[in-house]
Amino acid sequence: MILCLYLLMILIVGATRMGKTFGVIDKLTHETRKILALDPQDSLSRRFFQHHICGGSTKRILYDQLRRTDRAPGFISLWESEHTDPLQRLRENDYERSLIAEPLYGRRSLDGVSRPRIAEYTDEALKVIQFQNAYAPLFWLPFAIQPHLPDFEFLLRHCTHQETVDRLQSLAKLSPGQLRNEVSPTLRLLEPACRDPAFISRCGTLHCDDLINRYDTLIVEGSGATDQTIEIVLQLWTYKAIQYVERHKRSLVLVIDEAANWNLITKDLLRAVATLEKYGFELILITQSLSIVSSEIRVTLFQNARRVECYRVGSLEDARLMSGIFGALQYDPDSSGGVSGQGKMLIQELMTLPVGTRYVREQGHVFKEQSPILKDSYAWPGISEHMMQDAIQNIIQGADYQTPKYCTPASVRGRQRGSNADESSWRG
Ligand SMILES: Nc1ncnc2c1ncn2[C@@H]1O[C@H](COP(=O)(O)OP(=O)(O)O)[C@@H](O)[C@H]1O
Ligand SMILES: [Mg+2]
Repeated sequence: MILCLYLLMILIVGATRMGKTFGVIDKLTHETRKILALDPQDSLSRRFFQHHICGGSTKRILYDQLRRTDRAPGFISLWESEHTDPLQRLRENDYERSLIAEPLYGRRSLDGVSRPRIAEYTDEALKVIQFQNAYAPLFWLPFAIQPHLPDFEFLLRHCTHQETVDRLQSLAKLSPGQLRNEVSPTLRLLEPACRDPAFISRCGTLHCDDLINRYDTLIVEGSGATDQTIEIVLQLWTYKAIQYVERHKRSLVLVIDEAANWNLITKDLLRAVATLEKYGFELILITQSLSIVSSEIRVTLFQNARRVECYRVGSLEDARLMSGIFGALQYDPDSSGGVSGQGKMLIQELMTLPVGTRYVREQGHVFKEQSPILKDSYAWPGISEHMMQDAIQNIIQGADYQTPKYCTPASVRGRQRGSNADESSWRG
């Protein structure tokens, strides 16, 4: 499907270290709407945060550095829908599970033979966590398909979805060899995330919705976490941002740095921009390259971005794609390649632009400009770094941050002698 609307979307393309990230910070610091900034690395988040605090901002800021496992907001969870209509409930429950399952699969090309089985067991394990009569953190997923562990029995005893319980109980009847065959591929998918301290420490009972509501600026910084955790957490946030705007009909600016490299430009996201524009939802996508996204997504991006910015690009393929955007790829019957002399010059220029210089297409106009110079807020960079560390220490003492502790279903529920474990007990 190709969306043909004039969307509130800014697309920023350019090779690494060409000034893409610095180029948006100036815009963000003047933004009055709520901002959710997703940064798989740390350049956007650090700089943006620094400018916030050095500019004396009084906004409420949530700053989550995924590598931190001492204090973290616990927002990764799987909720059971409370909708009164059974069909709506079914739909919402399925959707919640898919939000976790999709980034778990990521771009890994699961081979044809094991794929259906992996999808099936992943979904059954997710159901065990979703339909519990006690709180179960999401990192317990792998226990749901390992019948030889005491944790399996604990989880299934509290699972309210009988079909799933029956289906998984049948695993207990398999021989060790059969069991390995059956569930190993799924375990290989689930375990890296569920054993990652960064993922574990973010499992909790906070609603992303409430968090977005409570803060003016939310920054999620991936640097230092595993690729899979970064992908899961950031994808989850993009969907939660969409849900937030849908539910509350409030404006939000969603900024995603290095979006294509981290698989964060999804069709759902682009569709959301179209439907949520009326509430003031704006998307800013920053990416190194567009030759790595599917041509369908690329067309949607090009046709719908209100503003396209192009810094120096790193490949001929990208230079060609971008020069098309700036209108210079006219067909020239005299040249065999079909690219006019003007087009060739633009391609060359796009590959040699100096740092901070960008080509822009906005509302039908094409022009070249220099992005505003971003100065360090203090003469000595050390001071801003020091202030920033202080500010982070302050922020992470907030009530929305927990001090996580690892535990298993058996350890929690054993301590409670089989009674319902609640959220406080798993935190220890
Ligand atoms: N507008 C700017 N003001 C000041 N310095 C800049 C600006 N644009 C780029 N730079 C310099 O270039 C470096 C790379 O910029 P960055 O935005 O991080 O690149 P990218 O996001 O394209 O990888 C920065 O660390 C900074 O030193
Ligand atoms: Mg960058």
